[in-house]
Amino acid sequence: MISRRDFSRLLALGSGSMLLPQQLSAWPSQLAATPKQPDERFWMSVREQFLMPPDLSVMNAANLCPSPAPVLEVMYRATKDMDGDPSFDNRQKMSTGKEEARRLLAGFLRVTPEEIVIARNTSEANNIVSSGLDLKAGDDVVIFADNHPSNNAAWLQKSKRFGYAVSVISQPNPHPGADYFVEAAARAITPRTKVLAFTHQTSTAGDVLPAGELCRLARERGVLSLVDGASALGFFDVDLSEMQPDFYTASSHKWTCGPKEVGLLYVNARAQSSIHPSIISAYPGAVGISRTMEAIGQRDEPAIIGFGEALTFQTKIGRKVIEERSRALGQALIAGLRRIDGVHLWTHPDPARSGAVVTFRPGNLDIPKLSAALYRNDRIGCATRTGSDRPGIRLSPHIYNTMAEVDRAVAAITKYMKQGV
Ligand SMILES: Cc1ncc(COP(=O)(O)O)c(C=O)c1O
Repeated sequence: MISRRDFSRLLALGSGSMLLPQQLSAWPSQLAATPKQPDERFWMSVREQFLMPPDLSVMNAANLCPSPAPVLEVMYRATKDMDGDPSFDNRQKMSTGKEEARRLLAGFLRVTPEEIVIARNTSEANNIVSSGLDLKAGDDVVIFADNHPSNNAAWLQKSKRFGYAVSVISQPNPHPGADYFVEAAARAITPRTKVLAFTHQTSTAGDVLPAGELCRLARERGVLSLVDGASALGFFDVDLSEMQPDFYTASSHKWTCGPKEVGLLYVNARAQSSIHPSIISAYPGAVGISRTMEAIGQRDEPAIIGFGEALTFQTKIGRKVIEERSRALGQALIAGLRRIDGVHLWTHPDPARSGAVVTFRPGNLDIPKLSAALYRNDRIGCATRTGSDRPGIRLSPHIYNTMAEVDRAVAAITKYMKQGV
């Protein structure tokens, strides 16, 4: 068996002998140490760790984040090693790397590796839960209206097959305060309720839910809690030992800036006997729940190893610092958008109720046209929401964005609100 040390040596950065693609080798190799008071200069140096050209400003972390240089470099090295010798003998070290990523993930979340399933994304992790619990007619699942379809659509669809009922708690806009969510959940939970499923920070209006309190309520009522952390992990300094959910899900490629198609399913030790695997195949994880829930066939281990590197990158910057920075960008956007005549914010401006997912209706402007103009003319990438339910534009800035980019986005939106698109 190859030790962790051997594995780290193999993937160690900066050996200089690797044939890296042109752009990778041109990058600054070191992430600057985080100063006590990180300023724009520091954040510019963080931004330089990303491939995006300086004139491009993508604020879409709630959907997909880019990976910084060290993550791409580690993935490239591991992929090159694997493809250079795909024998079982050589690939043994990949399993070591996967377990190292699990250990890093567990440390990041302050739980044990035995509670970690490395899934492929939040969608899969949410569905492992909704497919894996023993639910039947007479049971009830309580969900919140703004949960992602991989949560709500999945529960509703599967309820038709398994016969359980689903109760939906509405999410009024603007965010009505933390108490609303706890009181509404307390009312919705009955003796028939088996699961409470909610989203830590929503992708719709960027509402932040009181995750710890909702998990406590579920625990007190003997109900399993599923927390969708797709837009929370890598933004908040998520501490699952404090929150104590039964299940927590996330994607590497969102706020943690890791590789695509790697994700997290946390299963609390106390909930492990309540869930069954839906996919049964070869190559399970080595410890705890991963032995039964992660046997899903051949994986892209270089990407999983890259996820571990993404967590290391965030830890180096500092997780509290990251949250403060993303929040500051979100707050600056909110302040700028509030000054524009005709813009209606769906996101609550109170930092106790929102984070860095900012959505708004740009008056009567055509939303897809505005989004296209922002990208084409101003090099600003955003997400759109069409339809009648809180339509608009979503901007979700993260550590690779700067205050100057926020100003540029506000100025561009001001211009289109005045002159049309
Ligand atoms: C809250 C939430 N949950 C789940 C998902 C699904 O994530 P993924 O596409 O990585 O599976 C998203 C994606 O935007 C999301 O915002």
